[in-house]
Amino acid sequence: STNQSWGGRFSEPTDAFVARFTASVDFDQRMAQHDIQGSIAHATMLAGVGVLSEEERDVIIAGLKEISEEIARGEFEWSVALEDVHMNIEARLTAKIGITGKKLHTGRSRNDQVATDIRLYLRDEIDAIDAELTRLREGMLGLAEQEADTIMPGFTHLQSAQPVTFGHHLLAWQEMVARDQDRLRDCRVRMNVLPLGAAALAGTTFPIDRHVTSELLGFDRPTENSLDSVSDRDFAIEFTSFASLLMMHLSRMSEELVLWTSAQFDFIDLPDRFCTGSSIMPQKKNPDVPELVRGKTGRVYGHLMSLLTLMKSQPLAYNKDNQEDKEPLFDTIDTVRGSLRAFADMIPAIRAKSDNMYASASKGFATATDLADYLVRKGVAFRDAHEIVGKSVAFGIEQQRDLSEMTLAELQQFSDTIEQDVFDVLTLEGSVAARNHIGGTAPNQVRAAVQRARDALASR
Ligand code: ARG
Repeated sequence: STNQSWGGRFSEPTDAFVARFTASVDFDQRMAQHDIQGSIAHATMLAGVGVLSEEERDVIIAGLKEISEEIARGEFEWSVALEDVHMNIEARLTAKIGITGKKLHTGRSRNDQVATDIRLYLRDEIDAIDAELTRLREGMLGLAEQEADTIMPGFTHLQSAQPVTFGHHLLAWQEMVARDQDRLRDCRVRMNVLPLGAAALAGTTFPIDRHVTSELLGFDRPTENSLDSVSDRDFAIEFTSFASLLMMHLSRMSEELVLWTSAQFDFIDLPDRFCTGSSIMPQKKNPDVPELVRGKTGRVYGHLMSLLTLMKSQPLAYNKDNQEDKEPLFDTIDTVRGSLRAFADMIPAIRAKSDNMYASASKGFATATDLADYLVRKGVAFRDAHEIVGKSVAFGIEQQRDLSEMTLAELQQFSDTIEQDVFDVLTLEGSVAARNHIGGTAPNQVRAAVQRARDALASR
């Protein structure tokens, strides 16, 4: 026999390398408090149905609470020989309270235990991430409101297209994050069911009451099928999908922040506290935070692919493969939390260089569509108007002047429909103010959209 809790049927000890190779305690110890939370609920339920006496329950719970404090104080000695977080805690319990500790695992398996622990752990992380998403959205809305009138170039193909307001651009970001938050909440709903009671795979012969355990642990209900309960890791994949989409969005915002802080754009200033310098070039101030978030997106995509591949082709029910779910999931959580914290701190601190944005929007014939729309309102067919404005732009390129910088006579070379009132639509202010409908870039629409988004945030 061996010193292992499952060693009864073994005739030689586990190979030392195999013990290390199969152990998960180095990374699953981060679920220790949730493991204890699950064990306390399990012991409470077992006493409720008469499988444990009330005295046994009380001794077990007191022991588990002491262990919880030992872990919180950093005093707990984790042992690789004990394989994982579950057996480390159980062994410590028995060392503390004696044989009663050995009764805790009645009607339970590490298979349903670990499935429960991950859900409990992830649920707390989801709630923390949700709060950060709200903080990020609030920051974006605050800046959008402040910059509702700030004019910048809008781009397609990264070429100047039409003027937009900076507030409108920020609200586009806010929409992305709002959808991500919806997806996260959706994932939480499907995840919040209790696998405990499935035991190893088939359920247990003890008269357990899974509704009680479910309620004690804040789950919506017990799972329906024991085989599925111990082998389902969909929720981890869903969470990592949410995380991948969020990181994709943050990487797009990062890319814009990096571009905008460059001398070539010079649209914004990021406070020094979010940047670092160069060890050789004294003039440098690098936008490391957005660059790093952009880079970290890759590892989260990688974790999504790891988890999908991990689960592919696994036969029912539990397989040891599943132990490999934790590191990708935990690193995804850490990466998302770090990236979100950085963004939620940084966004409200962005300073718009509105003069530079305005000057940039004045270049590149961004009001060409406004001139075409003007001609249409005067009775010209849109295709003909497009042609007329195209020729006006070609003239402007040759003359190195924007449409608004031409004289009326110059514009009239291309169409005698053009009159003095054309200059109202050729201004950047006129251009953005004219996009005055829900979802449009007009400053008053931006302010209204900020209000709607705030109401939506408050109503959840
Ligand atoms: N450390 C294991 C895991 O993370 C716990 C479950 C082990 N179950 C088993 N039958 N070996 O998946």
